[in-house]
Amino acid sequence: MAMAKNTLTITDNRTGKQYELPIENDTIRAADLRQIKVRPDDFGMMTYDPAFTNTASCKSKITFIDGDRGILRYRGYPIEDLAEHSNYLETAYLVVKGELPDRKRFEMWEHNVKVHTMVHENIKKFMEGYRYDAHPMGMLVGTIGALSTFYPDAASIHDLESRRLQTRRLIGKLPTLAAFAYRHSRGLPYVYPDNELSYTGNFLSMLFRMTELKYKPDPKLEHALDVLFILHADHEQNCSTNAMRSVGSSQVDPYSATAAAVAALYGPLHGGANEAVVRMLTEIGSVERIPELIKQVKAGERRLMGFGHRVYKNYDPRAKILKKAAYEVFEVTGANPLIKIALELERIALQDDYFVSRKLYPNVDFYSGIIYQAMGFPTAMFPVLFAIPRTSGWMSQWAEMVRDEEQKIARPRQVYIGEGERHYTPIDKRPVPTMREEAVAEEI
Ligand code: ACO
Repeated sequence: MAMAKNTLTITDNRTGKQYELPIENDTIRAADLRQIKVRPDDFGMMTYDPAFTNTASCKSKITFIDGDRGILRYRGYPIEDLAEHSNYLETAYLVVKGELPDRKRFEMWEHNVKVHTMVHENIKKFMEGYRYDAHPMGMLVGTIGALSTFYPDAASIHDLESRRLQTRRLIGKLPTLAAFAYRHSRGLPYVYPDNELSYTGNFLSMLFRMTELKYKPDPKLEHALDVLFILHADHEQNCSTNAMRSVGSSQVDPYSATAAAVAALYGPLHGGANEAVVRMLTEIGSVERIPELIKQVKAGERRLMGFGHRVYKNYDPRAKILKKAAYEVFEVTGANPLIKIALELERIALQDDYFVSRKLYPNVDFYSGIIYQAMGFPTAMFPVLFAIPRTSGWMSQWAEMVRDEEQKIARPRQVYIGEGERHYTPIDKRPVPTMREEAVAEEI
């Protein structure tokens, strides 16, 4: 039997012409379609892919997801292994550098990140400028963007040492910025970093320390937060990572690109989803009211927050780990009453054909919010708790993009469906629109 060719043959029925396109990694290059033309002066064929649901924008070695089988791996290591045996800083090293560190390298990395936990005193003043009720995520977008003005050296994005330095700085400073945002919203004095504590322990100290001289984090809560950080370190080309790469492709400094990524994460369909889950569970209020909510969801009136995922068409492996972690947290904090509603909601949804046929399973946000709430975080802090660990993923994805010779400034095409050419009419000569035309204009 002849060897199968790794090519795709396309017949253009408009012209009868055939084109043979190479296939690499189960993909064809969109640019190869440009040769498909009716006339020589045509632009050539494009693909139309709103929201990039079937377009690979890069080659990456960082994170592997098999959404149908519920698999997530960083640099080849299953998320379950890392959640059980690693810690966040070690996982961040793996994500950023590609390999797990030996002891000496880990200690150096830990030291190099921790020396950057302080922020310039001007950042504190900058924070003070926000209103008392400012959303901490909005404060994070602003202050991370502002960091670019403190570190102009970050503009040297093609310099390896500079990229490494900014990566350590950002991973080091994110917990401090996040904690300051929280303290600001509470009207509490800022707590400076304590580098004798672990990365996560220090974060808890900066959040919750009151008058005690030394804050001692509860080891179970410290561990649970560390696991949450591991689970959120990277997730390949999601909305915020795409923002990081896309904005970074203009060769702007990584602080500005990270501010864009944090802004993307702010949205309710991405990092804000766990906040929405807690709101939804609180609104349901009791197990008896679940069928009513399911009815509304099935009627298309609302979505079941924390369910469904663009990539996972199976149980999100992170949600499985978190469901277990929730009980460890409850041992310290006492059970969050929302867990009962969440478990019952999950049970009912996973038996319902609407959810089964659409492959809608709990995602990472379904349980993370309940855990954060039990730990005493206000809901507005939830996306902030996502942004801290995701910084290692964003920086790693950004550096990969900068080094990738195939990458250019991100600039998608469009299919123009608007008016053809028309000429300017002076304002008094324009026809008066009918009521229908006015209504259409208002819809826009
Ligand atoms: N509740 C009810 N129905 C849903 C849900 C949901 N949560 N999610 C998807 N569906 C339905 C859609 O209505 C659609 O049904 P249809 O085929 O009858 O029209 C079908 O499932 C496919 O949905 P899409 O919107 O095409 O799926 P998409 O991949 O674009 O959306 C998303 C993914 C945004 C995560 C979506 O599932 C959602 O809105 N979920 C709730 C928000 C959420 O939990 N986000 C967190 C994601 S994880 C993260 O960002 C860390």
